[in-house]
Amino acid sequence: MAEKYKETAVVVSQEQIADGIYSMWLQTEQIARAAKPGQFISVYCHSAEKLLPRPISLCEIDREQGRVRIVYRVTGKNTGTEEFSTYKPGDQAEILGPLGNGFPLERGEGKTSFLIGGGIGIPPMVQLAKELNGEKQVVAGYRNEQIFLGEELGEHAAFYVATEDGSRGTKGNVLDCIRENELKADVIFACGPTPMLRAIKSYAAEHGIECWISMEERMACGIGACLACVCKSTEVDEHSQVHNKRVCKEGPVFLASEVEL
Ligand SMILES: Cc1cc2nc3c(=O)[nH]c(=O)nc-3n(C[C@H](O)[C@H](O)[C@H](O)COP(=O)(O)OP(=O)(O)OC[C@H]3O[C@@H](n4cnc5c(N)ncnc54)[C@H](O)[C@@H]3O)c2cc1C
Ligand code: FES
Repeated sequence: MAEKYKETAVVVSQEQIADGIYSMWLQTEQIARAAKPGQFISVYCHSAEKLLPRPISLCEIDREQGRVRIVYRVTGKNTGTEEFSTYKPGDQAEILGPLGNGFPLERGEGKTSFLIGGGIGIPPMVQLAKELNGEKQVVAGYRNEQIFLGEELGEHAAFYVATEDGSRGTKGNVLDCIRENELKADVIFACGPTPMLRAIKSYAAEHGIECWISMEERMACGIGACLACVCKSTEVDEHSQVHNKRVCKEGPVFLASEVEL
């Protein structure tokens, strides 16, 4: 089983990169060195009222300097993510990771891949774009002209944008963007809201494309102990004999055909 570590990380930098979206680099000891694209960390709040850690994907991994980058959306007032947005360089944060399985990089080897991100599902695509071999096309869906992480993604892959309001790129969703640009791929890696993943799953099935999706289910423990994060699987679990998979442990990345959305 892959190692995970509980560490006191130190904030290296904190920057607002779009309305309500923040980017934070954290100095870690072991987590950065052990992490893979598509894995996540659990970030604990300082506030004693907020006991449960918040799962946040690794956006970038700098193994040499022992740092990880997270990009997160503040979900509202008095939330854990709002607390994170107040952290300054030098502040500390308890984190646990790396957690989850990560993307199967070998499945993209020598192939043409779509890396599809929607909203706050875009961040994990940065490290994936860096590490995946083969031809890569990132298709990113945003609400409006506030395009975040576009520069980083464009450095490592062909970069296509869809916006809901049509202010940039294709007006519509990521699949509208794929159709408009007549893009083709052999394998899909995707992360984003469930309706987007559902649409991508059926697009992949229709076109016979292998499709890997990263799910952002609500979590509690983040380490496979509480079953708060189960999703329905098409196969029966060997141990419990039920159609369940724990997103935090067996996921968050699944072959789309193995899970019900
Ligand atoms: C594997 C994974 C990766 C994620 N990666 C990112 C990311 O890179 N960037 C980002 O902005 N968000 C990401 N999320 C969503 C993020 O975890 C939630 O937005 C966050 O936990 C909300 O916490 P809060 O304190 O702001 O909200 P609150 O509403 O105060 O949270 C209350 C509780 O519900 C849980 N919760 C609420 N919404 C979610 C959610 N969508 N998913 C999981 N738990 C939730 C919280 O962890 C907390 O325990 C990810 C979720 C998962 C499961
Ligand atoms: S969050 Fe507890 S089992 Fe997944």
